[in-house]
Amino acid sequence: MEFQKFTATANSNIAIIKYWGKRDEELILPTNSSISFTMDEQFSTSTTVEFDSKLKRDELNLDGKVGNENELERVTKFLNIVRVRAKTKQFAKVVSKNTFPKGTGMASSASGFAALAAAASKAAGLSMQPRDLSLLARLGSGSATRSVFGGAVEWQAGTKKDGSDSYAVQLSPQDKWKDLRNVISIVDEKEKKVSSRVGMKETIKTSPLYSQRLKTVEERLNLVRKAIANTDFHSMAETIMRESNDMHAVMLDTFPPIFYMNDVSREIAYAVHQLNYECDAPVAAYTFDAGPNAHVYTTTKYVGEVKKLLAELKGIKEVKESKIGEGARFSEKHLF
Ligand code: PMV
Repeated sequence: MEFQKFTATANSNIAIIKYWGKRDEELILPTNSSISFTMDEQFSTSTTVEFDSKLKRDELNLDGKVGNENELERVTKFLNIVRVRAKTKQFAKVVSKNTFPKGTGMASSASGFAALAAAASKAAGLSMQPRDLSLLARLGSGSATRSVFGGAVEWQAGTKKDGSDSYAVQLSPQDKWKDLRNVISIVDEKEKKVSSRVGMKETIKTSPLYSQRLKTVEERLNLVRKAIANTDFHSMAETIMRESNDMHAVMLDTFPPIFYMNDVSREIAYAVHQLNYECDAPVAAYTFDAGPNAHVYTTTKYVGEVKKLLAELKGIKEVKESKIGEGARFSEKHLF
């Protein structure tokens, strides 16, 4: 069968209610629902996929370089799922490019697997609604589940054993919250010592605090859903910070402990609390993922203040600003 070449682009996303722990390792099913904002096109991955009967194995090129064995293995494992569904045995050529330079320490698996899911399924002749795409992207990387959609997105944990109810839904479209910004501080460009996959597994296994987190996260989910519906930054700022602190607390409670935030990250957290104190209102809120880079959510009115305070801190390599971005989309601009 002859297949066509397809290209898709997806943006990364940053969770404000975090996914940290799986109830099923193979199907990538989370222990709790999570909520994120999709980033803008400065933080995106574009991927072209073509299935070709002449290929003897999958071929992968990432940002101009041949993908290493680990990267290729992960992509092949994902393409195998697509091949089974499309009833084909053909291998594929995959070329992928990130708009954010590799080595900025920014998570690329969310945008990467959302773009790959969209391009590969279409190139294999499968027709998919966004929900199905989200279910498929989840099998590549948990955070990719949310990158299929733009705006504010919830990945519903679901309860079914087969994972069929564990997909993302859009809570609000990208143009609803126009003045919301993510001010990103690049603190460290190195690869993390403990991958999120290994880290969250160890947390579940060894952290006594983790069961407490699962009890309190539901309340934070409700609060954030409501704040997003009302585009009310003040009412969610404290919850965003408490949620990030809570995730990093269970990371620290893991044995051996996992440290993702460093001294610079902590200085940023202090500075945000100081700004909120001086403004007498929660005008900014930090969140940290599995790394030391800070994401400070704020509104356009306070972006200048946030950047000013970050400029006064030592150890930040670069500051970037992202709007709320769109979901996965197809493009005619093929990469080969
Ligand atoms: O799906 P992964 O392996 O990219 O894990 C993401 C984990 C966090 O970024 C820490 C939290 C999240 O919800 O994105």
